[in-house]
Amino acid sequence: MIYTCEIESHVYISISICTIDHRSQIADHRFPFMVEVLLDRWNKSFGSTVPEVVVRAPGRVNIIGEHTDYNEGWVLPGAMSRSIYLLVSKSKTGQHHWIAYDLDEEIQSTEEILEYGQYAWAKYIEGAIRLYAPELGPLQLLIGGDLPVGAGISSSSALVCGILFALQQLTGKTESKESLALIGQRVEKEIIGVQGGIMDQFAIMMSQPHHVMLLDCRTREYRLVDADLPGCKWILINTRVKHALIDSDYNQRAAQCKQSVAIIQKSFPEVNALRDVTMDMLTAADLPETLFRRSAFVVQEDDRVHQMVEALHQHDALRTGELLKASHEGLRHMYEVSCDELDHLADFANAYEGVIGARMMGGGFGGCVICLIREEVLEDFSIACVDAYLDRFGFEPDVILFDLADGVSLVPSM
Ligand code: GLA
Repeated sequence: MIYTCEIESHVYISISICTIDHRSQIADHRFPFMVEVLLDRWNKSFGSTVPEVVVRAPGRVNIIGEHTDYNEGWVLPGAMSRSIYLLVSKSKTGQHHWIAYDLDEEIQSTEEILEYGQYAWAKYIEGAIRLYAPELGPLQLLIGGDLPVGAGISSSSALVCGILFALQQLTGKTESKESLALIGQRVEKEIIGVQGGIMDQFAIMMSQPHHVMLLDCRTREYRLVDADLPGCKWILINTRVKHALIDSDYNQRAAQCKQSVAIIQKSFPEVNALRDVTMDMLTAADLPETLFRRSAFVVQEDDRVHQMVEALHQHDALRTGELLKASHEGLRHMYEVSCDELDHLADFANAYEGVIGARMMGGGFGGCVICLIREEVLEDFSIACVDAYLDRFGFEPDVILFDLADGVSLVPSM
């Protein structure tokens, strides 16, 4: 079985599904190819120079712990082998020249970004420079890669983390990756206006291959957890939908959690966030029904994160699957951030013999389902899943293969 993967707008490669049991193989053989394509474009646009810095910034997956980060709870994310690559040099012409290869867009002055309100990607770049390295002069920049945009795998956080890391190299600054992750969150909050938690930036900056991180979003302490289950593979299935109102619904959920905390504090003044709450406290606090459901989901999801760490440690496939399914049901009925396409994919996967478990991943209302599957059924499952989705919705979802990879890194000169 051959999968054709779009790795940027007009270059395609084929991956034999037979290779998936060799860890990192997919990432390894695509990675130099992509950088070569980008270097070629670099030379066409900037002459036969070598970029001063080449950075790889991965996408983010999350095994479990959804909508818990902004409630100061726990998450279990990792970085994927699919990544954005950023080739950067200080400009020799005295003006900016930024190219988004996949989108076939380029700009030569930052006024263009502000003036036309377009080039969303450039706003992140401009914001990161403004906040972190305004002293640096104009840049030559080329970005491209194989990370789908709008799929709930944090391509925008990858872009911000990647450019911050590149700027750090160019300026010689020496903050820790953790500090850079926090600056990344500020760029998204203060400049772009997205009120996300800290999960994405931490996973994208600090992850390690084959592992996810158990991150305490209050203390920001984390430890690595081996996420491999023998004979199984984590995959994503992208609904390829992104329903409107994502940001306002996301912000509304965050506001509801705050409202709940304010009510709970009347009976339990020691509570600072839903992370401090138990189911008994929730029941005693006499919350309105919707707030009770939202809060109960967060309390239970925090608990599932710890149970998942134990299940992975024990290589307990049955328990891992139960936790994934319970998380999806909670996101669907209690937190209400799922949608028909996500429910269809999760239901289909969870009913399929050989799938350990599946759930929607990320903020919701579209994006991806994450699924743990036995390797021997991956090919048949992929075909059946794509067919069933096509029948129901009239277009195909993307089955995305990946490895758990390291966080933002320098690409050695080739
Ligand atoms: C988005 C946000 C994250 C997190 C998830 C939900 O991806 O960027 O911070 O809140 O939603 O878990």
